[in-house]
Amino acid sequence: MNDVQHNGEIPPVRSAQDLVHMEHVSRTYMQSGTPQPVLDRCTLSFAEGRVHVLLGRSGSGKSTLLNLLGGIDAADSGTITVAGRDITSMTESELTLYRRRDIGTVFQFFHLIPTLTVLENVTLPRELDGADLAASRQSALALLQRVGLDDKADSLPETLSGGEQQRVAIVRALAHDPLLVLADEPTGNLDGTTGETVLRLLLELTLDAGKTLIVATHSHDILPYADHVYEVGDGSVREISIDEVLQHEQELQRKTRRKQQELRRS
Ligand SMILES: Nc1ncnc2c1ncn2[C@@H]1O[C@H](COP(=O)(O)OP(=O)(O)OP(=O)(O)O)[C@@H](O)[C@H]1O
Ligand SMILES: [Mg+2]
Repeated sequence: MNDVQHNGEIPPVRSAQDLVHMEHVSRTYMQSGTPQPVLDRCTLSFAEGRVHVLLGRSGSGKSTLLNLLGGIDAADSGTITVAGRDITSMTESELTLYRRRDIGTVFQFFHLIPTLTVLENVTLPRELDGADLAASRQSALALLQRVGLDDKADSLPETLSGGEQQRVAIVRALAHDPLLVLADEPTGNLDGTTGETVLRLLLELTLDAGKTLIVATHSHDILPYADHVYEVGDGSVREISIDEVLQHEQELQRKTRRKQQELRRS
């Protein structure tokens, strides 16, 4: 089990290989005028170079957690350290650099910039960082070739299929050599076969580069590749075993069959 605790009941245990450590992190949103704690004093670590999968019902807080790790949103309290740096105490300009240099993100709806070509989308983070453009283009093209899209380098995103756009987004997430790759429902907008291809490429490219991947998903297709699985819900993030996930799935199947039989009888 990974060292996951909640509500500070167990003292945090740090491993030398942890890339991310969250301590007593809370995030509350106002919902219909009432404060709703989405994450409530969560303490957990994500080991470096591993595949971490976040499961949980819709609205449980998976995206909230990813947004905090990616420096898109700020925790109300608690600390988050990434590679030993406390991102919760960074200034806005430090956070901008953190997002640009250290994080690669893959979203459900691709989020490519429509007016830029595929290659320009991929090289943008490094270009903003003042990197050598020729070198950035060369490494971006090599990655585009790996996902079979080097011939689309000069195309605009709108001329690509959803699966192709997501392959570009995967390349964009990795091209600037980030510390951490965050993926929020990366296959949520794709059909089964396309989703499988995209997932395989995401895993291949991330693991080949030795990166840490944290994926929020409703799909269980990624579970065979997961090193750690967590259930997000009721304010907490709890590591669970794959067996627990499968047992839950079997229980759901049994319930569905019972309901079907009841409906047929009535
Ligand atoms: N900016 C916001 N303002 C108010 N409430 C928010 C905001 N962002 C998220 N929430 C609420 O926080 C809760 C967690 O949302 P979150 O998007 O993290 O869930 P999720 O697990 O990613 O769900 P899904 O599986 O549907 O993507 C939800 O109840 C949501 O309505
Ligand atoms: Mg979400």
